[in-house]
Amino acid sequence: MIVNSARFHISSPCASKCPQDAQPHHEYAFIGRSNVGKSSLINMLLGQNDLAKTSSTPGKTMLINYFLVNDSWYIVDLPGYGYAQRSKDDRMRLEAMIKDYILNRVQMTNLFVLIDSRHKPQAIDLEFMQWLGENEIPFAIVFTKLDKLKAGEKKKNISRYCEELLAYWEELPPIFATSSSNKIGRDALLDYIDELNRLPL
Ligand code: GTP
Ligand code: MG
Repeated sequence: MIVNSARFHISSPCASKCPQDAQPHHEYAFIGRSNVGKSSLINMLLGQNDLAKTSSTPGKTMLINYFLVNDSWYIVDLPGYGYAQRSKDDRMRLEAMIKDYILNRVQMTNLFVLIDSRHKPQAIDLEFMQWLGENEIPFAIVFTKLDKLKAGEKKKNISRYCEELLAYWEELPPIFATSSSNKIGRDALLDYIDELNRLPL
């Protein structure tokens, strides 16, 4: 798929204030731990460096941010989960906001769960995906920051992660390997979204 246009649409503090367009649309949300690279990946996909705000300090994204693509579908940048430096109240508020969005946003066609390809499987991500499964939320896994791994580690880390998932899951969700720094995985992800865009609304 070619991205012809992409622009910031709206930031919402909760699911009930997300866009309610008269025209039905597909919507794809990006989630994962703080600092995993959600906003950077969105910029990479949309071909604009500063559309979604990124930061080397975790916890940058605090609202549900909408980007309208090709005047027809949305990408949604969600706040990250699990940032330990935040106050407990803030963490609980953000978690409630994220869960409310995921459970109630009927427009969300697919959720992309981002995982830092450098790390071993972490309980917080595995539990989150377990929760998605229990709630029958369609999702795909996107490994990020592949450029930070040596050639031999890329396949090894991803296979190790998949093996661990297969201990809990009968089958794996769609898996993508990406790097926002060198655009690895861009075509594969956009083609996948293109396929989903063809599903009836
Ligand atoms: P929050 O909004 O805080 O939850 O973070 P986020 O998941 O949106 O992460 P963000 O895109 O802001 O990126 C966090 C840091 O990781 C930034 O310093 C990015 O430059 C860096 N980063 C993101 N993606 C990549 C990547 O593919 N490769 C490399 N080398 N760095 C990356
Ligand atoms: Mg962000």
